[in-house]
Amino acid sequence: MESLNNYLLKYKGYVFAKGETTGEYIDSLQHFEIRDSDIFLVTYPKSGTIWTQNIINLICEDATDKTKFPNNLEKMPWLEYREGRPDYSLRPSPRLFATHLTPTLMPPGLRDKRGKIVYVLRNPKDNAVSYYHFSLVWAKLETPKSFEDFLQQYLAGNVGGSSWFDHVREWYSKRDQYSILFLSYEDMVMDLRTAVEKICKFLEKNLDDAAIAHIVEKATFRNMKKDPRANYEFIPGDLLLKPQFMRKGTVGDWKNTFTVAQNEMFDQIFEERMKNVPLHFIWDFDNKTN
Ligand code: A3P
Repeated sequence: MESLNNYLLKYKGYVFAKGETTGEYIDSLQHFEIRDSDIFLVTYPKSGTIWTQNIINLICEDATDKTKFPNNLEKMPWLEYREGRPDYSLRPSPRLFATHLTPTLMPPGLRDKRGKIVYVLRNPKDNAVSYYHFSLVWAKLETPKSFEDFLQQYLAGNVGGSSWFDHVREWYSKRDQYSILFLSYEDMVMDLRTAVEKICKFLEKNLDDAAIAHIVEKATFRNMKKDPRANYEFIPGDLLLKPQFMRKGTVGDWKNTFTVAQNEMFDQIFEERMKNVPLHFIWDFDNKTN
């Protein structure tokens, strides 16, 4: 693993948080046996991971969950950061995992369309602003000197999860190899119920109207922020300096942060790097697509 700074390491082209995983463990994922019932939530960081984690966990909830798992993270742990948990191969089915990994680092068994992947993407301007704020409160990340300073690192892919552009492009271009559902954060904000229904259908979970309404209610920003199993306030204070995983939860917040010059530069880079990717992004709710 090559050190990028005091907090980040590069391994096989991907940037990891220092001290959280090893090259050996990441390599072992190439032999990780996939089960048909496995569900993976894949995101670039700050794209709505803990939100979708909460939704999938609620969809897959069983009566024993509350006693078995103290919080959402233990029900759906991160694939790349095992953090002292027992070997994941010992976990009973159905196994749920969250991950920020790129396709090449993922268990190859997924390419046989075994297991299901829910991929959530978010417009990169809001994503960058959310990531900037997160870097201010996550002790294991370098505190950016300014938003400009962070934006340069983000655009260069020198942040945990590497480049947003590569992440989205790689997963999208390889989508035919997987059983994968693409969802956008913005669609979820706009119509949470439809998003929950889509996830249920994809996971082949037949929930009745009342069960769906219950999940939607629990997954609203307002309610989830109060939910100690879901809001990540269970993360120790030496790691999360301020309990701010759930910050604003809106679309278009980038406009309060980007300068005109930053926005123009970003648009140009976006156009160049995403020109062959036919995905439409919602940048705000007045002007829905780019
Ligand atoms: P903001 O920083 O823009 O508020 P991740 O879970 O991938 O780290 O993403 C974090 C982002 O998802 C944060 O964005 C957070 O507020 C938002 N989020 C979390 N739960 C949400 C919810 N229930 N509704 C809307 N946004 C939510």
